[in-house]
Amino acid sequence: MTTPLPSPASTLPLLFLLLLLLLHPFPAIANLHNLRTKSLKLPPTHSTKPTEFFEVTKPISLPNTIPCIHHIFTHDFASTFVKPPFLTNYTPPSHCPSSHGFSKIVLEWNATCKGRQFDRIFGLWLGGVELLRSCTAEPRPNGILWTVRKDVTKYSSSLLSKRRQDLAVFLGNIVDGTYTGIYHVNVSIYFYPASGENSGGGGNSKAADLILPISRNVENLNDGLWFQIENSSTRIESSEFTIPSNAYRAVLEVYVSPHQDDEFWYTNYPNDYIVANNLTSTPGNGPFREVVVSLDGVITVGAVWPFTVIYTGGINPLLWRPISGIGSFDLPTYDIELTPVLGNLLDGKAHSLGFSVTNGLSVWFVDANLHLWVDREGEKTTEGKLVAHGSELGLTSDANFTGLNGKFETGASRWVSTEGWVKSSNGNITTRFDQRFSYSNSMEMGKGGDSQRVKQRCNVSDKVSFSGGGPSLRSTNRFSVELYTDSKAGRNNTVLLETRLALGLGNRRFRGGKEVSRLGNLQRARGEMVVQGDLVSGGFGATKQWYNYGGEEEKCYFRDVSSKNYTIVHDRQGIKCHK
Ligand SMILES: *[C@@H]1O[C@H](CO)[C@@H](O)[C@H](O)[C@H]1NC(C)=O
Ligand SMILES: *[C@@H]1O[C@H](CO)[C@@H](O)[C@H](O)[C@H]1NC(C)=O
Ligand SMILES: *[C@@H]1O[C@H](CO)[C@@H](O)[C@H](O)[C@H]1NC(C)=O
Ligand SMILES: *[C@@H]1O[C@H](CO)[C@@H](O)[C@H](O)[C@H]1NC(C)=O
Ligand SMILES: *[C@@H]1O[C@H](CO)[C@@H](O)[C@H](O)[C@H]1NC(C)=O
Ligand SMILES: *[C@@H]1O[C@H](CO)[C@@H](O)[C@H](O)[C@H]1NC(C)=O
Ligand SMILES: *[C@@H]1O[C@H](CO)[C@@H](O)[C@H](O)[C@H]1NC(C)=O
Ligand SMILES: *[C@@H]1O[C@H](CO)[C@@H](O)[C@H](O)[C@H]1NC(C)=O
Ligand SMILES: *[C@@H]1O[C@H](CO)[C@@H](O)[C@H](O)[C@H]1NC(C)=O
Repeated sequence: MTTPLPSPASTLPLLFLLLLLLLHPFPAIANLHNLRTKSLKLPPTHSTKPTEFFEVTKPISLPNTIPCIHHIFTHDFASTFVKPPFLTNYTPPSHCPSSHGFSKIVLEWNATCKGRQFDRIFGLWLGGVELLRSCTAEPRPNGILWTVRKDVTKYSSSLLSKRRQDLAVFLGNIVDGTYTGIYHVNVSIYFYPASGENSGGGGNSKAADLILPISRNVENLNDGLWFQIENSSTRIESSEFTIPSNAYRAVLEVYVSPHQDDEFWYTNYPNDYIVANNLTSTPGNGPFREVVVSLDGVITVGAVWPFTVIYTGGINPLLWRPISGIGSFDLPTYDIELTPVLGNLLDGKAHSLGFSVTNGLSVWFVDANLHLWVDREGEKTTEGKLVAHGSELGLTSDANFTGLNGKFETGASRWVSTEGWVKSSNGNITTRFDQRFSYSNSMEMGKGGDSQRVKQRCNVSDKVSFSGGGPSLRSTNRFSVELYTDSKAGRNNTVLLETRLALGLGNRRFRGGKEVSRLGNLQRARGEMVVQGDLVSGGFGATKQWYNYGGEEEKCYFRDVSSKNYTIVHDRQGIKCHK
């Protein structure tokens, strides 16, 4: 049930679902990953081989050197919900030759699972710095396996730090008679030595010298290190930190994942509609959300308008087997340039970065990494000053409805801008950071609330310009989601849910006005499912995906793949550049 089901015919199963959950020995219903995602109850297949799930993405470009493999842990995640994260000591590998340093570091997560289980969100942190936010794949009786590889070179300073650090993984899972799936996980990190000749890093900007966690302290935590943000535009979760006084550049990398009442925030109804129709247990606040980041509670330093990641149990779990949703195995992160505000942070005192979610309902998991570059020239401290900053949000909404049928239009736009200078051994450089956002959402409810059509578009552009140093950096993103759902009451308290979905992500990056990479990623899916309580007892799902990346030095990758139920019916990939 992707959409809250308002009609009398379909509220019944929803109530039934709640009853089922109440009968279950769940420690805290409100904290469960999601009541609206489903796990499947399907007959075992003839196939005995485990199914391999994957997210379509370009292969990581690797140097021509032999990697050192650093095995980090093997662990089974069974009854881990409301328990401390799994912890292991981390030190960099001692057996790796590193005279030229490492030009690439890759994290590898392998997991297997068998039985029935929900999709679970998880995070992996090193010394409080988040390295991966991801979602598990949902198992089937004959078993599944999947691998997530992530280029973690940008976290080099944390990964190579000699001090002893805790590596923490929180994956809140519940195993009982019904939900039998235990996640068996291996994590290794591959260190690729630089060859010496081309240690330049292939045009990638140099990794930060130091990364500070903006997350919760792992001590006494029965949860992930993320902040849990809910309920309002005013509720701010924040974390204090102190930076070295010779920092000359700062970038905040924000991790975001919405859950429960906001997992499908882009389908949430306006409150007027909810009130007029007496819909009591339906998530509302309309379909617009953003995460706003503030410094010391007063300066808005940036915003995140997140991509609509759909987890592996989302909408119809059969859509995501074995091709997982865009971003679901490696959730996108969002960078906010903090160099313009460095002047406010260089006083050696503690400062705070806070997060709020505009219109947010329970619950958003948000935290961040503060990447810092420090001046190595002597003891000389840098100095700086924030010169100008501003931000403005515009929201529009329009609604026409009669009873449960109606049309809603929501529009939003925002700009955020900061400008400041920093003087270091690199000179006196003025940095300006500009974000521009625009958004539209049209929603149509039909059939007495049983059908919903949502079309959402979001444009995000970020620009960092330096006067007196380096080419400007710009990125543009286009996010789109189109979703049609239609539910009908079936026999035996079942609901038949029909879905059509298009999910798109486009990204272009520019350096000094010149395009350096371009990505187009689109999934189209359709499916049907028979839902009984919280279980899907039948149905089908078909997904097609087109992925097309073009980067610097003619590095390209495309993949055109489609699946039906669990079977790949078409798969073509290559590295030829399509212009
Ligand atoms: C983890 O590693 C162990 C030992 O190499 C292996 O037996 C097991 O199959 C691996 N599991 C996964 C999920 O990769
Ligand atoms: C993960 O699985 C792949 C493919 O089976 C294997 O090559 C790799 O060694 C595994 N890595 C870990 C960390 O278990
Ligand atoms: C969130 O809102 C709900 C409903 O309005 C309320 O019951 C709950 O106490 C609120 N939680 C917080 C943390 O404000
Ligand atoms: C909503 O509830 C109120 C009070 O119980 C009732 O008067 C009204 O008719 C209800 N409206 C709908 C649309 O059911
Ligand atoms: C609501 O109705 C008015 C008048 O017919 C129309 O101008 C407007 O576009 C409608 N809004 C929506 C969201 O359909
Ligand atoms: C750095 O440059 C800015 C803008 O030109 C100027 O206002 C500021 O005084 C300079 N700072 C120093 C320490 O020279
Ligand atoms: C996004 O940008 C495109 C191209 O400039 C434009 O056609 C579209 O209307 C924009 N969408 C929104 C929601 O602003
Ligand atoms: C309804 O459910 C009951 C119990 O699960 C089952 O025995 C029966 O066959 C079902 N009837 C139909 C028409 O599916
Ligand atoms: C697979 O697809 C067919 C329809 O083409 C359907 O009958 C079947 O139940 C589907 N579902 C699964 C999980 O095999």
